[in-house]
Amino acid sequence: MKNRKMTPEIAAELSKEIDAVQVVVAACDPRVRRLFRVLMSDAISRKIRMRFLGTGVGRFSLTFAKTPIAQLFSKSLEKYAKVAATSEWLCDTVHLRFADAQVVKADARHIPDDLGRFDILVTSPPYLPASSGRESYAKARAPSLIALGMRRHDEVDDLVDDSIGSMYGDGVDLKTLTECERNLVEWLRRDELRAIKAEPTARYFLDMRRAFSEMRCVMLPGAYCIVVSGKRSTFYQFSTREALYVVPSAQILADEAQSVGFEVESLQDVQLIKLNKNARPRSLDDYYETIITLRNPRSE
Ligand SMILES: C[S@@+](CC[C@H](N)C(=O)[O-])C[C@H]1O[C@@H](n2cnc3c(N)ncnc32)[C@H](O)[C@@H]1O
Repeated sequence: MKNRKMTPEIAAELSKEIDAVQVVVAACDPRVRRLFRVLMSDAISRKIRMRFLGTGVGRFSLTFAKTPIAQLFSKSLEKYAKVAATSEWLCDTVHLRFADAQVVKADARHIPDDLGRFDILVTSPPYLPASSGRESYAKARAPSLIALGMRRHDEVDDLVDDSIGSMYGDGVDLKTLTECERNLVEWLRRDELRAIKAEPTARYFLDMRRAFSEMRCVMLPGAYCIVVSGKRSTFYQFSTREALYVVPSAQILADEAQSVGFEVESLQDVQLIKLNKNARPRSLDDYYETIITLRNPRSE
């Protein structure tokens, strides 16, 4: 990790902490190994926090949680042991029956045909800042992925290029964008510092259109789909912190969903409490996320 905070001493200490948890995961009962691996991954990403900065050139800041990785791991383990015991208790005493669960590794732009059809779909897709280099879901998880043996360090960049909202954006046909989307992409193109984000932003909108269309294919007629997204995304003047362009991100997603046949039932804004008030420009502004409720029509 090319970051001044990742000194050789810190890297060695983190490696030591990760090694200690890996020993536990390797020695655990095979029936719980997958759960242990998930908890290890979670503990590492809680310990090493990456936040992407600036205009999409991959610059990031690092912060390290004070709690050691082993302690983060054992705290989650305790929590999930209680969750498992509670579920068992509910099954035994009130005869609650949980639906079967399955984890599928797939791409939301190409949902496998054989999953069946569902009554409800709940999702939080990548937010617009993802396509502008302010977020990288895959890179932020790189230390976990490497520790799990799922990626080598030299493969992390490819993984980024593969996800919705990455900085990849070749060959997008702007004519297929809505007017609101096209206005934003053209504004980005005209801005010397932000031109790098124009194509990835266009790609993000088209990928989300594709994902909505795939989502409908696995939903029963009349089924609900709940989508959580940032309400707005704001581009700022760096020096004065003046808002230059406010993008109604949640409304754009709702319009995309509607364009592929969803009925839009409601958009409900939820204010979030900010944890880090110093981090971003205009960090004292209120921050809202939006719950978009969509419905698959009862009949075509
Ligand atoms: C806003 S996050 C929500 C994550 C998760 N729901 C949670 O609460 O932790 C968006 C997620 O979409 C994932 N993602 C990006 N591109 C995807 C794709 N093509 N198919 C499926 N998931 C994707 C990212 O890796 C990221 O984890």
